[in-house]
Amino acid sequence: MSPWAIIVAAGKGERMKTETPKQFVIWRDRPLYWHSAVAFSRSSRVKGIVFVFHPDYLEREKERLRDLIKTAEVCVPWLVAPGGARRQDSVRAALESLPPECDLVFVHDAARPFLSPRLVHRIADSLAPEMAGVIPCVDVTDTIKSVGKGACIGATIPRHTLLAAQTPQLFRRRVLQKAHETTGDFTDDAGMLEAMGEKIGFCEGERSNVKLTYPEDLDLLREKDDMINISGFGYDVHKFGGDKPLRLGGVPIPGALTITAHSDGDVVLHALMDAILGCVGRGDLGDHFPDTDPALAGVSSAILLDEVLDLAREARFVIDHVDITIIAQKPRLAARKKEISNNIARLLGLSTAMVNIKATTEEGMGFTGRKEGIKCCALVNGRMRRND
Ligand code: CTP
Ligand code: MG
Repeated sequence: MSPWAIIVAAGKGERMKTETPKQFVIWRDRPLYWHSAVAFSRSSRVKGIVFVFHPDYLEREKERLRDLIKTAEVCVPWLVAPGGARRQDSVRAALESLPPECDLVFVHDAARPFLSPRLVHRIADSLAPEMAGVIPCVDVTDTIKSVGKGACIGATIPRHTLLAAQTPQLFRRRVLQKAHETTGDFTDDAGMLEAMGEKIGFCEGERSNVKLTYPEDLDLLREKDDMINISGFGYDVHKFGGDKPLRLGGVPIPGALTITAHSDGDVVLHALMDAILGCVGRGDLGDHFPDTDPALAGVSSAILLDEVLDLAREARFVIDHVDITIIAQKPRLAARKKEISNNIARLLGLSTAMVNIKATTEEGMGFTGRKEGIKCCALVNGRMRRND
């Protein structure tokens, strides 16, 4: 099987009323049509892509594609074809430019930039041998009326008989090309094949796979860029008894207690760093600072925290709130909690109200109860740009 994808981007976008046709609107530094190409390429279900542009834009977009392809976001061969007056004319032109080995073809609207690789897979997997094509559909949630006479409603169409068709639509290339020789106006390719009596299957589409049509639909692009809330959890344990003086959250805790550790053994900062790494999806502390690294012997955890915060900044992750529980039979920490939260707030650049420290014993049970060591759990909450 050698499926290709046609991305039709030759419309005028009249209903959108943007200065430039909607398929050229820039979102996340790329023209809208490019996002669909990335989804096809990521799905690894297509062997190549044909972009269809209005002849007035063809050369300009070819230039732009030569640059975009250098990003390696799309790793399949590509072609451009000149679009026609109607959508179906644009599809026909693209079909003619497909290489001979192509036997299956996805036809997709450039105006649906939220296409997911998962949907591409679902469609491809739904094409049964007896079908000429398969299309993704979603339930109709509004009650649909027909228009009657004199600005009155005609009738209510039973909703359970309806489906809203999306793209990409997948077809056997030969059958689709034959369908495009017929006359008639069609708003999608499946409609042409249905008119010829061909069997078209359907699978579940995605509600997020909307076609940007009217000006307010552009808000969806901004919403996608909104920050989302992220949480990360961290946990650490240290044994009492070594040669390191006890420090918690960067605060020295005077007394007889010492810690066994390669670094400074600050159980609170270690749990905190693991929680931050969890938020940004960067593994755990050991991945970044192995306890076999001689350069890290006795290193201050506050220095390591700075490096972890650099990773968080790189990921554009913003910490909002930290909640920490220290679990120890000794020392008693009630009087030190404020000092620890102040210091962590300082290290993270947060207000102290956003750093909460709790301390508890384990009622004499377990290794903390036997006063053999100390443990700490940290929960970090923050925001990051959605990355999908
Ligand atoms: N399309 C095309 N060639 C045409 C008409 C439409 O390639 N002659 C493409 C559009 O660029 C779009 C897709 O078909 O990606 C779906 O069409 P639609 O949403 O109707 O886009 P436009 O026709 O551009 O918008 P409008 O109808 O509002 O003018
Ligand atoms: Mg149109």
